[in-house]
Amino acid sequence: MTLSSDTIKEVSVKKRISVGDFQISTEERAAINEVLDAGRISEWKKVSEFERLFADYINTKHCVAVHSGTSALIVGLSALIYDSRFPKIKKGSKVITTPLTYVATINAIVLTGLEPVFIDVDPYSFSILPQKIEEHLRSVNDPENYSIILPVHLMGYSCDMDEINRIARKYDLVVLEDSAQAHGSLYKRQRTGSLSLLSIFSFYIAHNIQAGEMGAVMTDDEKLINLMRKLKANGRVCDCSVCTRPNGYCPYFPQDDDFDPRFVHDVIGYNFKVMEFEAALGVSQLKKADLIFVKRQNNVRYLNEHLDKYSDDLQLPAFSENISYLAYPIVIKEHSKYSRKYLREELERNGIESRPLFGCVPTQQPAYNYLKGEYEGKMPNAEYAGKNAFYIGCHQYLHKDDIEYVVCIFDKILS
Ligand SMILES: Cc1ncc(COP(=O)(O)O)c(C=O)c1O
Repeated sequence: MTLSSDTIKEVSVKKRISVGDFQISTEERAAINEVLDAGRISEWKKVSEFERLFADYINTKHCVAVHSGTSALIVGLSALIYDSRFPKIKKGSKVITTPLTYVATINAIVLTGLEPVFIDVDPYSFSILPQKIEEHLRSVNDPENYSIILPVHLMGYSCDMDEINRIARKYDLVVLEDSAQAHGSLYKRQRTGSLSLLSIFSFYIAHNIQAGEMGAVMTDDEKLINLMRKLKANGRVCDCSVCTRPNGYCPYFPQDDDFDPRFVHDVIGYNFKVMEFEAALGVSQLKKADLIFVKRQNNVRYLNEHLDKYSDDLQLPAFSENISYLAYPIVIKEHSKYSRKYLREELERNGIESRPLFGCVPTQQPAYNYLKGEYEGKMPNAEYAGKNAFYIGCHQYLHKDDIEYVVCIFDKILS
């Protein structure tokens, strides 16, 4: 399809191709009304229902919902620090992670008193490079100070979890997957988020399964899940997700004891509880997960087919039916005549939103300037992507004519 420049001008005034979107359908309205009718909006049965359904979807035994992906990371890392089964994981111990991620990953590591150690990424999948992790661990003289590997499945691309888990076993490290951007992605037929001791997700608005704001930590480990239920609720001793005491019945604490377990706290925790509305939206989105997954893949496939002619200038996202695409990432190639700034400005002028691919946290995020000297020049792939990569939307609300329009605009800008 080709549009005349007049038609493009006319359409672009109205068209807005957003990076992410959330449209309230009759199911979402019904879900919200169900919460209103139930008469309780703070954390309760809908949150439990979401936890059960999402654990089934990812194929872990447990899920604990919290109010964001950031709080999921903080709760997961705090639980590992608290749990005496992991004596190496303590404040000041080192967490191997990726420099190319949304800053929340690194903020959570630092805020829980751990020290991030950055390893470069693969330039095509943006995933941390296992061989570089191993080289790093072989070269340091304090491997005993390393406690966790925290890989991020960026844009839906799964990291090489077999290799990461092998290295973790060899060096006695715990793995926590940041799967915030990979709802439903598969690694060797298993969903990301089910491939390590702990994993986290975010259900922020632009993500594939969205709830406005919400996060979750997943695990098969009973002890960790109970600890995390406490940590998200100011450390109260009872960790039931739905309290039965208002019905005069508590299976864990005898009613005649002179204390109320909801107000007795045996660990120091946060308030990261979730509202029923968010969980209700999460449940209704989860029912559409497979459709969302396929719709996004079809959009990526179409864009790849029609933008391939620009492969001298643009590195397009690798396509695989195993990937649940968060967005459509593009890297400007080294010898391209176009800059990222130029391309993003032109796209924006034509109604197509974009975002930079987060930046290389230790060298390109001002909050981490204190690490710049140590890392500058040492992670060429992450630094290159941080300066030259960006993404546009490929979400499920974009129709065929939207995607065709995106191609037309690229044609207009690049040919
Ligand atoms: C990789 C990654 N980790 C963590 C988070 C934090 O999630 P939230 O925004 O829900 O706090 C995000 C959010 O986009 C993310 O992309």
